[in-house]
This record gives sequence, C-alpha cells and structure tokens, in this order.
Amino acid sequence: MPAISIIGLQWGDEGKGKIVDLLAQKADYVVRYHGGNNAGHTVVVGTKKHFFHLIPSGIFHKNTKAVISNGVILDLEVLSKEMDILEKEGINLLYKLCISPRCHLILPYHKGLDEAYENARGNNLLGTTKRGIGPAYSDKVSYNGLRVYDILDWKDFINKFTFQAKIKNKILKTFGVKAINIYKELEKLKKLRRRILPFVKDTYKVINEAANKRKNILFEGAHGIMLDLDWSPYPFATGSNTVVGSINTGSGLPVNKLNSVVGVVKAFTSRVGGGPLPTELKGRIADAIREKGGEYGTTTGRPRRIGWLDLEAVRFSCLINNVNEIVITKLDILSGLLDIKVCIGYKLNGQKVSYSECGYKELSKIKPVYKSFTGWIDDISHVRNFSDLPQECRIFINFIGKYLGVKIKFVSVGAERNANIKV
Ligand code: GDP
Ligand code: IMO
Ligand code: MG
Repeated sequence: MPAISIIGLQWGDEGKGKIVDLLAQKADYVVRYHGGNNAGHTVVVGTKKHFFHLIPSGIFHKNTKAVISNGVILDLEVLSKEMDILEKEGINLLYKLCISPRCHLILPYHKGLDEAYENARGNNLLGTTKRGIGPAYSDKVSYNGLRVYDILDWKDFINKFTFQAKIKNKILKTFGVKAINIYKELEKLKKLRRRILPFVKDTYKVINEAANKRKNILFEGAHGIMLDLDWSPYPFATGSNTVVGSINTGSGLPVNKLNSVVGVVKAFTSRVGGGPLPTELKGRIADAIREKGGEYGTTTGRPRRIGWLDLEAVRFSCLINNVNEIVITKLDILSGLLDIKVCIGYKLNGQKVSYSECGYKELSKIKPVYKSFTGWIDDISHVRNFSDLPQECRIFINFIGKYLGVKIKFVSVGAERNANIKV
C-alpha cells in the first residue's frame, strides 16, 4: 500500500465493492470520498451478500476503519439503515466509522426535484437513480446546500431547512410534484441527527495523520470514470467527479500522497440509465450475459444495458487517472460464448476518432472497431491458477493488458472473496 485508490474504469458496477473488500484485508482505513447512495457496491462474504450505498465496503475486516469524507453527499435515512444492518451483524460502528461534518445532505426536496426534472424530460430522460444526487450537488455549488455541520446546531438548522424547503416546494409545485411536509420532515431529521452525531469527526485529520504515519489507506471510488461530471459525454453523467483527482477535494489527501491507482475493468460493459454506449449489444447475447452475470442495478434493480468490452473508453480512463494496475472482473461470465469481441477504436464517418474527442452526439454515432477472439467453453469459476485457464482465455486477458499497457494485478472469476487468479 499505503495510499491506494480503487476506481471503476467503465460506466459503473465493475465489481469495485468486491475488490475493495478484498484489498481492505490489509488496510487500516477505507475511505468513501464522493457520490452518494446512487452507488451500490456488493460484497459477498461466504454465502451472504452485503450491499453498500454509503458506508465503505472494507468495513468487515477487523482492523479496518471506515471514513466517509467531505466529498460524499449523505441521505441520513439511507445511512442510518445501513448502519443498523451492520450493527446487527455485530460491527462496532462507534469504533469503526467516522463522518465528516463537511458532507452535504441529500434532503427530501432533492429527491422530489430529481423526480420532477426526470419527469419533465419526457423521452429525453437521463435515467438517474432518483436519489437526489444532481439536485443536492447543485445546491452545494449554488451555496444553498446544508451540511452535517448545520445539523450540529439544531435551532439554526430548522431555520435554514425551512427557508430552503419553502423555495423548493414552490419549484416542486410548478412541476406538479407533491411538496414536502416541512414539519414532518424536520421531525424525521431530528431523530436521524441523534443517530449520526456520535460519528461526526474531522475526517481530514484522521486521513492525513494516517497518511503521515504511512498507514494503509484505500480510497473507494464510487461510480465509474465514464460517469464523471467533466469527462463523461455530459449530460449523461453523475453529479460528482469520479476521477482520482476528487480524492484531494473530497477527502483532503494531498494529490502527491496517493501512491497508486488500481482500476477495475469488467470483462464486458454495462450501463444503467440513458446515454450513449458505443459497444451496446441487443438481443440474445446481451440477454445471456445479463442473466448469467446478474446484471441488474444494485441500487434501483433496473436491468443493465450490456455491451462488449470497450478498450477505447477504458484506455482513456487509464490515461486520465494514471492507472498503475488493473483487475479484470467477471471473466467467468464470458465462458460459453463462441466469439468474444473487444472494441479497439472508434470510427466516425470513416475517420478514426478518440473517446475524448466525442460528445454524446458523436458517441451515439461512432462505429466501434472490433477485434474478435475465439471464446472458451469450460466454466472457469473454480480455476485459481493462470496456467489452468483455457488458452483462449489467457490470450484474451493478455491482449487487454498489452492494449492498455497496464499491469494486470489479478482477474476475478466469481463474486466471492477467494475467486481470483494472479496473472
Ligand atoms: P460495483 O458497483 O462496482 O461495486 O459493482 P456491483 O456490486 O454493483 O455489481 C457487481 C456484481 O458482480 C455484484 O453482484 C458482485 O457480487 C458481482 N461480482 C463481482 N466480481 C465478480 C466476478 O468476478 N464474477 C462474478 N460472477 N460476479 C462478480
Ligand atoms: P456504482 O457505484 C451504475 C448512473 C445512473 C444514471 C446516471 C446519473 O454502483 O458503480 P445519478 O442518480 O447519479 O444522478 O444518475 O449515473 N449511475 C450509476 N450507474 N452504477 C453506479 O454506481 C451509478 N451511479 C450513478 O444510472 O445513468
Ligand atoms: Mg454498483
């Protein structure tokens, strides 16, 4: 280690949760530094599946502490439910979890506004998770946000919340969406406030003291790089920057203190919601991959759109984040396909174009340039040695590493912690 970032290099759901949990075995701290409960990370321990939306995925390890730093936006109801589940599992959260007072809050009117904007977009909807992400981040940027800091002084919070809620209710009414009941929401928030107050701490200090002592810190990226607010085909984005640069703004770790970046790449592509997906597949192969891979949203349950692995896009993610190593996940899901394709470039009107040159209109029109690979028949989910993999599978893996020019740390062939193969 000591300070490692783990990020998804595609459109989300690459299997970040599994990899964070695995690498957290040696971590002193795991930090979530951006996004909200639009994230859905899965960790499988034994036969049990755990879903994380806000709390860092590495919390199950005995000596690993979890930090929610300032860049995360918090829906206190979701957070409190997630805390309840973990406490029932026997985890001593008071010892393990801390939350920055700088985190902005996702408030009931943000969810209402997310819904209202989506409805108003009609056929051009973005397909957000409707968790209030965009509206909460836009309140942060327009100085209308309320933070965990604000709930420390309850009387003051009542005034600030009421002021904001009255404005938002006017907007909601204009959209024909139900206004929020300010009194009832304040009652709920008052209880939630009591629940989280004991965990509020200056996380900047925790992280920087740990970094100075060369402790092992994992930074858990939420969402994928292709959903980054600046580097996605905007507006088909999420509300936060998903690139590693947001570790600095979202946690206070100085940029030059990050030691390495591990990128998680799913062996195919998935996307939830609208927006261009250059290698999208429709029909039999997509359905087979979706069913076998359980490709349904961890947060919303929506069926994920499926495509071939898009190395043009992943290469951009590697470049912009200076990825040092990659982990390839869900390779087991491709077993049984006769022919597997990967996209190695884009063409627009017959001309070569790069991912970064394309806005959403160009990305919807480009023709992927594919390289075909012979598939393998055998189930590989029980294989643990690289040399035991079918030759076709090894050729596929080696091509990905070579094309990206990045070392492959290991490949994952199952959701469980030990289903990995060192390359
Ligand atoms: P995240 O958002 O990136 O953490 O990913 P999700 O948890 O939303 O989706 C990934 C899904 O794939 C989860 O159900 C994981 O348990 C599962 N998973 C992760 N790695 C593998 C793998 O290598 N093989 C299989 N079959 N499933 C995996
Ligand atoms: P994890 O952490 C997949 C997508 C939404 C939508 C767009 C904007 O599990 O990889 P938002 O609610 O963020 O305003 O929606 O972003 N999106 C994700 N898709 N996995 C995620 O998180 C996502 N987080 C946001 O589907 O298209
Ligand atoms: Mg997910």
